[in-house]
Amino acid sequence: MYCILCIGSVYLYVGWNQPIVHTNMANRVAVVTGSNRGIGLSVVRGLLKSDKFSDGDVFVTARDEAKGKEAMELLHKEGLARAKFHQLDITDEESVKRLASFLKEK
Ligand SMILES: NC(=O)c1ccc[n+]([C@@H]2O[C@H](COP(=O)([O-])OP(=O)(O)OC[C@H]3O[C@@H](n4cnc5c(N)ncnc54)[C@H](OP(=O)(O)O)[C@@H]3O)[C@@H](O)[C@H]2O)c1
Repeated sequence: MYCILCIGSVYLYVGWNQPIVHTNMANRVAVVTGSNRGIGLSVVRGLLKSDKFSDGDVFVTARDEAKGKEAMELLHKEGLARAKFHQLDITDEESVKRLASFLKEK
């Protein structure tokens, strides 16, 4: 399964259980799928520490809100307090739409 959502100039690439990130340098918003652990969480850390993304929004997303909040606590303890969170289950169309609407209004 693979889909690409285009919300204005924010692009969200959603791959099957794969942490995929696309950044738009004008709006500087990055959304990382499956980022409560593993490679996704490492991608989030990398973006937050990158000089090239020092003023961008980085969204941790997880299908399970509780796991997402645990990841956020971990990032905050590491001094990476700039991370933001939104729920996202890539297999749930309503969840994808909720995130799309949220980003569009942002
Ligand atoms: N680690 C490697 O060396 C390696 C190498 C090559 C390729 N890969 C591939 O890269 C991917 C990520 O690897 P990883 O080691 O980071 O895996 P991981 O530690 O198992 O993490 C997978 C992440 O995807 C999330 N996820 C699963 N189903 C989801 C869904 N429907 N919607 C949203 N998020 C979902 C998981 O959330 P939950 O915590 O809720 O399960 C978790 O956050 C995997 O597909 C893996 O096969 C990994």
